[in-house]
Amino acid sequence: MGVFQYRNGTLHCESAPLGRIARAVGTPFYVYSKKRLIANWNAAEKPLGKKPHLICYAVKANANPHIIRILAERGAGADIVSGGELRLALMAGVPAERILFSGVGKTDAEIRAAVAAGVYSLTVESFEELSAVSRIASAMRKKARVSIRVNPRVNPRTHPYIATGLRESKFGIAADRAVEAFRLAASLRGITVAGVHCHIGSQILETAPFTEAAEFLARLVRELRSLRIRLEFADLGGGWGIDYQRIVETGADPNPERPLPTGPGRLFKAVLPILSDAGIRLLFEPGRFLVADAGALVASVTFTKENGGRSFVILDAGMNDLIRPSLYDAYHQIVPVRLRSGRPAGRPDIVGPICESGDFFAHDRPLAAVKRGELLAITGAGAYGYSLSSNYNGRPRAAEVLVSGSRFKLIRRGEEVDVLWNGTGFEEKGLAN
Ligand SMILES: Cc1ncc(COP(=O)(O)O)c(C=O)c1O
Repeated sequence: MGVFQYRNGTLHCESAPLGRIARAVGTPFYVYSKKRLIANWNAAEKPLGKKPHLICYAVKANANPHIIRILAERGAGADIVSGGELRLALMAGVPAERILFSGVGKTDAEIRAAVAAGVYSLTVESFEELSAVSRIASAMRKKARVSIRVNPRVNPRTHPYIATGLRESKFGIAADRAVEAFRLAASLRGITVAGVHCHIGSQILETAPFTEAAEFLARLVRELRSLRIRLEFADLGGGWGIDYQRIVETGADPNPERPLPTGPGRLFKAVLPILSDAGIRLLFEPGRFLVADAGALVASVTFTKENGGRSFVILDAGMNDLIRPSLYDAYHQIVPVRLRSGRPAGRPDIVGPICESGDFFAHDRPLAAVKRGELLAITGAGAYGYSLSSNYNGRPRAAEVLVSGSRFKLIRRGEEVDVLWNGTGFEEKGLAN
């Protein structure tokens, strides 16, 4: 059974009724289940058993330090993409030797900070970056451990914005120049060549693209070995897809024909034989899989209305709080926090208050009629929800709450309205000015 479930007609996160949390912190707010987070971690970690491996949580999916810490305490590393995420991961308790620093545009300051911290590996994504890392680490009289991100030219058959391993992608180094990049890295001062990396995209529902990528990595590891470049690890990135359509059990399956995710069990079964053969440590960088279904965004209905034959439910959460539907046309299951009998069925557009037609959570979505002030939960919002939120339209960011059993705690206060002018010099002026 999922951790978001109805008891006596009221939606709970674990044993905490969402209405109670709403009264305590106000809406909109993000709520996360500790139990689900840990269950997801175990589902990822356990099948790998004693194989030399490291799972590095992709912090960008949800960068709340409490979430990072829960995973770090269970052995997770961190996949980070900025100096800010480096600070966050270290602060949340991820040891430097479990941190991977990815990203196409690391600044000199970020490279310096990563080398000084002694991260497990910098994932280098271009020839220029190799030279920069060599120069910076040499000047610090240190050796930077690096892996090289290679594009295996695999089509992950996902949304184009989250397909990253294609030939023309901005990420990584093209497959046909991979050996050249490793040769250069092996010749440079201040660098220890530690691994090879690829990340082909996100929300991938099939195993085949991962199998292709694993075969590519295994071939490359063997080719490099024949050139006396011995790698310590191969990193298959993240991208494990989840089922966004059925997080809360509501009876009938809304779309039985949809492709279902393969899950880490089947994924490992497909790729481990290929990569184990390469005889090196295996790294994975899941983000979404670990946190997405552990979180929901809870919002109140501000108004309902009819326009031109369409009906609308307008929430107090908007695309500034959760941008995935607007950005990727992503599907999130949306359910009432309180089930009420006798309400007529409808198919409203569920939208936010932002001045953009693209500010929506769902179009034409089956939903029993709701009234002003009632609560809806937008599920599957634990990944790329809060972390992609903004202050657009003068909206302070929502609070974040962590549930464990029947208890909940605020793990980030909702922002106050002064975030809108802090740092501008207007702080002291007050309303009269
Ligand atoms: C390099 C890298 N690793 C891991 C991830 C995590 O992907 P996901 O959340 O789909 O698992 C990303 C996502 O953008 C990424 O760019």
